[in-house]
Amino acid sequence: MSSAPSPTSAPSTPMTRPDSESSVASMFDRIAGRYDFLNRTLSARQDVRWRKHLIDLIPYRPQGTFLDMATGTGDVILAAAASHQEYADFIGADISTGMMKHGADKANYQLKSGMIKHALTWRTMSAENILLEDQSCDCVSISFGLRNVVYKANALNEFSRVLKNGGVLLILEFFTPQGGIMSRLFQFYFHYILPIIGRLFSEKEAYSYLPKSVASFYTPSELREELRNRNFRIDVEKNFLFGACRLVRARKIDNVF
Ligand SMILES: C[S@@+](CC[C@H](N)C(=O)[O-])C[C@H]1O[C@@H](n2cnc3c(N)ncnc32)[C@H](O)[C@@H]1O
Repeated sequence: MSSAPSPTSAPSTPMTRPDSESSVASMFDRIAGRYDFLNRTLSARQDVRWRKHLIDLIPYRPQGTFLDMATGTGDVILAAAASHQEYADFIGADISTGMMKHGADKANYQLKSGMIKHALTWRTMSAENILLEDQSCDCVSISFGLRNVVYKANALNEFSRVLKNGGVLLILEFFTPQGGIMSRLFQFYFHYILPIIGRLFSEKEAYSYLPKSVASFYTPSELREELRNRNFRIDVEKNFLFGACRLVRARKIDNVF
């Protein structure tokens, strides 16, 4: 596989957390069975609405290839397959086979009940090393996943590499909201209440990890900069929950040198 063509592919250090990919994968394997329930509960079902906004931004590409990276239990890829039947291939990829097992079960049910028409492909692979050809994807999405990738710059390089020119990258992610009373309230919920609820239903590590991973993630302007440096042009940005959750759509543009 060729290396990423990005001008900023050089040093790629983890942002502050030294987690290894295998420890991240095994944490998600352990919480996989409770993941959907906790997601819906802890976000008061807002996660469904945010993913719906992402689905609405998927470009129309007949016979296209759609890659949902860090697909987890498959909510994005299933919704994409249901609403964008013009695509030929839907690939869900993750480092946690436990999470994808739940996704595959949901996909089988939805196929049988006619909610989706396509069989989906599930691949165990890292966003840092996507086992697909250069310029082979029309759309790449990553929802609540980029924050968990150890070397995020490597993942962004890989998204740029596998996308066709004009292809679309969709990132849905939590960020630290800036300023204001509502953002302080949210921070309190995120750092103190959410880990307690998470701990009641799941394991301690996973739900104290969530606020930490957000705190060490890019700021919105850092992410914009990272994308621009890789020849992406951002054409949509949406804020939810006072900026605590953001959706970014970026198009890969031709290298014109
Ligand atoms: C919070 S879940 C999000 C799952 C799903 N996208 C969603 O919207 O619910 C994060 C997922 O990222 C996956 N992940 C973490 N690091 C990854 C990496 N380097 N490559 C691929 N997937 C990764 C985890 O295994 C986990 O399934």
